[in-house]
Amino acid sequence: MNILLIGSGGRENAFARQIAKSKLCSQLFIAPGNPGTIQYGENVAVNATDFEGIKQFVLENDVKMVVVGPEAPLVKGIFDYFKNDVEIAHIPVIGPSQKGALLEGSKAFSKAFMVRNNIPTAAYREFTADEMQTGLDYIQTQSLPIVLKADGLAAGKGVLICQSIEEAQQEFKNMLSGKFGSAGDKVVIEEFMSGIEFSVFVLSDGENYKILPVAKDYKRIGEKDTGLNTGGMGAVSPPSFVTESIMQKVEREVIIPTVKGLQKENISYKGIIYIGLMNTAGDTPKVVEYNCRMGDPEAQVVLPRIESDFVELLQHVADETLNQAELKISDEAAVTVILASGGYPEDFVKGYEITGAKDNGDTIIYHAGTKMQGVQLVTNGGRVLAVTTLDKDWLKALDASNKIAEKIQFQDKYYRRDIGFDLI
Ligand code: AMP
Ligand code: GLY
Repeated sequence: MNILLIGSGGRENAFARQIAKSKLCSQLFIAPGNPGTIQYGENVAVNATDFEGIKQFVLENDVKMVVVGPEAPLVKGIFDYFKNDVEIAHIPVIGPSQKGALLEGSKAFSKAFMVRNNIPTAAYREFTADEMQTGLDYIQTQSLPIVLKADGLAAGKGVLICQSIEEAQQEFKNMLSGKFGSAGDKVVIEEFMSGIEFSVFVLSDGENYKILPVAKDYKRIGEKDTGLNTGGMGAVSPPSFVTESIMQKVEREVIIPTVKGLQKENISYKGIIYIGLMNTAGDTPKVVEYNCRMGDPEAQVVLPRIESDFVELLQHVADETLNQAELKISDEAAVTVILASGGYPEDFVKGYEITGAKDNGDTIIYHAGTKMQGVQLVTNGGRVLAVTTLDKDWLKALDASNKIAEKIQFQDKYYRRDIGFDLI
């Protein structure tokens, strides 16, 4: 069948590779894709949130399945757009409904969902501008640090961890006064959780689910987890500290109540639930956040470890028969190291020539922020490439990725040389 994949990042490059391997995929299109996805299918010049353009393309090219990578089209309601249009309602969209995407699109919604469904998470309260004074008083009663979250999508910048009451009160006022635009119309004030973070990915057909490989991503720009937050500078799957007993807790206390809660609340969810967890007190996992999609760069370590036919799995999601699917995971570990443009996550220059970005043995080069300038590959984003290696020994995978990361050249290249440092 013909499949349309939506998105253009490293995550979509990882999806493209997995989909193109499937015996069920005759032709893969990627809208809009990137220079890395070209080796797996045909890039088409349609924007990820241009639903009308996507509909036309799907009809003209006999597309039988749409796989959605990024959150923006999901939060904008691409699933419902297809469902509500008789011409395309029969084409499955792999991704949640607009209501389901609120798990990521609204922090207030996701916190209330967790409370309703008894899912362990940090204590919180939410406030609007009308409740400014109540919120300021509430902050006064909290212990430090205090976590503030803009309710809506804020390009990964909407979470602040404040070290003093004064800072928290000031930032709270800034948020409610439009620092993050309408994303901050509501602000969640949350208890700080200490521990180590990991990411769990659940493929759900709305009733049944499969747990994909666990990963840990490295969000800070600087080595030893210092400096500004980024989209993610590297990832490891599986992270050794996530034991079977922790995963049993996650399944019992988080995954099952999440899938059942969505079903009970009539929220259609046929896609990936990304559960960001904090392992508190050594063995007590609590939810930090949900996302309505696969992680990036977690996709670049999770997806290549899936040995089952990936499109077959997605077809089971569409048909609501995931209970009949077999999920086979490789016993090899995967490590990815992100090559970023110097300056990222703040200002950086684009358009530098890239050399040496070729798959090599067990190392896969996923493209994130690249483009072709004539015949030359150049940098085109903050996160440029993801260098993933698979090996039974994750330290060997790490070493191989680091070596290739060193070899690939572009001006102002930056990468963290300490991915996995806390797992050794
Ligand atoms: P979020 O967008 O909710 O995932 O938050 C971004 C990052 O902020 C998370 O990955 C955590 O590192 C941190 N964070 C968010 N909420 C909390 C919390 N309640 N306690 C500690 N750290 C948090
Ligand atoms: N790596 C974090 C995310 O995809 O949100």
